[in-house]
Amino acid sequence: MADTIKLSVNGVEVEVPAGKNLIDAVAAVGIEIPHICYHPALGADGNCRMCLVEIEDGRPPLVAACKTKAAEGMKVRLDSEKIKKIQRDIMEFELINHPIDCPICDQAGECILQDYYVKYDHAPSRMRVPQVTKGKKMDFGSGVVHDQERCVLCARCVRFTRLITKTGELGIVNRTDQARVNIFPGRPLNNRYALNVVDLCPVGAMTSKDFRFRQRAWFLTKSKGICHGCSKGCNIYIDHNREKYKDDIIYRYRPRHNDLVNGYFICDSGRMTYKLENEKRLRVPLAAGQQVDLESAVNALKRRMDQADKLVFLVSPSCSLEQMRAIQQLATHKAAVLSGYSEGYIQKGDGDDYLIQDDKSANRAAFALLGIDESKDTLTAALNEADLLISFGNDLSLSGMDCTALGKTELAFVGSYANNCADAASYLLPVASYSEDNGSIINIDGVLQRYGAAVVKNEPLPSMLQILAQLGGAFGDVQAVWSDLNSAVEAFNKVDLQNIPAEGLALTVSEVDNVTA
Ligand code: SF4
Ligand code: SF4
Ligand code: FES
Repeated sequence: MADTIKLSVNGVEVEVPAGKNLIDAVAAVGIEIPHICYHPALGADGNCRMCLVEIEDGRPPLVAACKTKAAEGMKVRLDSEKIKKIQRDIMEFELINHPIDCPICDQAGECILQDYYVKYDHAPSRMRVPQVTKGKKMDFGSGVVHDQERCVLCARCVRFTRLITKTGELGIVNRTDQARVNIFPGRPLNNRYALNVVDLCPVGAMTSKDFRFRQRAWFLTKSKGICHGCSKGCNIYIDHNREKYKDDIIYRYRPRHNDLVNGYFICDSGRMTYKLENEKRLRVPLAAGQQVDLESAVNALKRRMDQADKLVFLVSPSCSLEQMRAIQQLATHKAAVLSGYSEGYIQKGDGDDYLIQDDKSANRAAFALLGIDESKDTLTAALNEADLLISFGNDLSLSGMDCTALGKTELAFVGSYANNCADAASYLLPVASYSEDNGSIINIDGVLQRYGAAVVKNEPLPSMLQILAQLGGAFGDVQAVWSDLNSAVEAFNKVDLQNIPAEGLALTVSEVDNVTA
C-alpha cells in the first residue's frame, strides 16, 4: 500500500498519510477537523458529532471524520454552510449546561470547549432555562478531582480505564441531561496511570489535585524532556515558569507522544518526579566537611584526588551517557577503579507489562555498552583498599550500604539530589540536574534519546561535564564526548549526534552484540 494518498479538502488537493482516519490524515498537513471524543490512543467513539464532514461522492450527506478512513480521491468539505451550522449547533448543545466559569477553571487556556467556542460558534447563549446542577469537586481518588458540571460526556476518561489500564473504575451513569461520569460506590480510581485522565479530558472536568489552581496554563513554558523515574524513559513536557522575583520552577510533567517509547501516556509516579527537581536538590558545596564556594570545593577535591593512594569512582545508572563516558575517562586517567554498582535502584516485581519498569534508573543500558562493571564484589574489593570514594550521583544507601561507615575511605559526592550518601560526604559538589542540562540516555528497550536543558535557574549550577573537566577530565561538553564515543566505542561508531531522530534511535541488536562479544 502506498504511504500517502491524495484527496481534496475544500477543493484543494492534499497529500496525506495512508491508513488513517480523516481527522489524523488531514491533521498531518495542518488541517483541523474539530473533534472532542476522538483520541488516537482510544479510537473513535463517535459520540460528540463535532467531527461531521461532507464527502462529495453520493454517500449519506454527513459522516463522522473520526470513523471514516481517508481514501484516495476523496472529496471532503469542511467549509459548507451545513457543516458550519452543525458545528455551531454542537457547540450550543455542549454549552447548554456547561458553567461559564473559565476564569476560575484550571483548564482555561488549554480547553477544547473554550477554543472551539471561539473558532466555531462565538454566538451568545439563547438558553433561558436554569442549568442542570451536578456534582462539584468530587474526589475520584489517585489525585483526580472531578467536576460533573464541566463534563461534556466524551467518555475519553471512561475508555481510558477500560481500554488502557483495564481497571474500569469510571462509568457514565443516567441519561440525557442527567448523565454524568462517576466512580462506583466505594471504588475510587486505583491504578498507577490514573492522572492521564486529566490530560485526556478535553475540558476542565478532570483536574489534578497536585496541580489545580497553582498556575494558569498560559504562564507555563512547555519544554520537551525525558522522565528519569525508571528505565523506560517516557517522553514528557516539563511545564515550568519563572514568576517575577522568583526562580524558574517546574509545576508539572505531562506525557509527550512518542510511539517508539511510551505512546501517549506516562505513569503517575514518574509524573510526580518533577518535585525532586524543585525540592530535593543539593545547593551547598562542601570541602573537608566545611561549607565553601563551589570553586574552592572543586579545587579541594582535586587536591584530595591527587593525594589519594587508592581511588574509587562510583557512577549512578541515571547519569547521562555523556556523563558516564566522561567519568570513565577521568577514572582511567586517575587510575581509579570504576564501579556502577547500584542494585538498590532495581525494585524487583514493581514493574508492569505496560510502561513501569523494575529498574528505577534511567540509563543502566549504557553501562553494558560502555563496559562499566556493576558487580558488588568489584566495588567492595576496591573499597577495602581505597582511601577516597567519589560517587557521581549514586546513592549507595539504596543498595544497602552505609555511607557513614566506610572505614578509612573518605566520601565525596558529585550530584544533583540530596540523599543519604550525599549527607555523609565530606566533599560535595552540586551540579545541574537533567531538567537543567542536556545529554542522552538509552532506555530498557535500547532506544537512545537526547534531551535538552528545559529549566534555567536564577543561579545555575554547572553541569557534571564541566565539573569533570575542572577535576582533570578530557571533555568539557557533550560534543567533545561524542567525538570520543564515535571513535572509541563500537556501539556508537555509526551514531551521528546531530541526526538522532526526535523520537530516539533504536540501537540495533548487532550494536549491543558488538560490545558484549
Ligand atoms: S470527565 Fe472529561 S474526559 Fe471524562 S467524559 Fe467528561 S469531558 Fe470527557
Ligand atoms: S514509566 Fe518510568 S519513565 Fe515512564 S513516566 Fe513512569 S517512571 Fe517515568
Ligand atoms: S470526534 Fe468524531 S464523533 Fe466525536
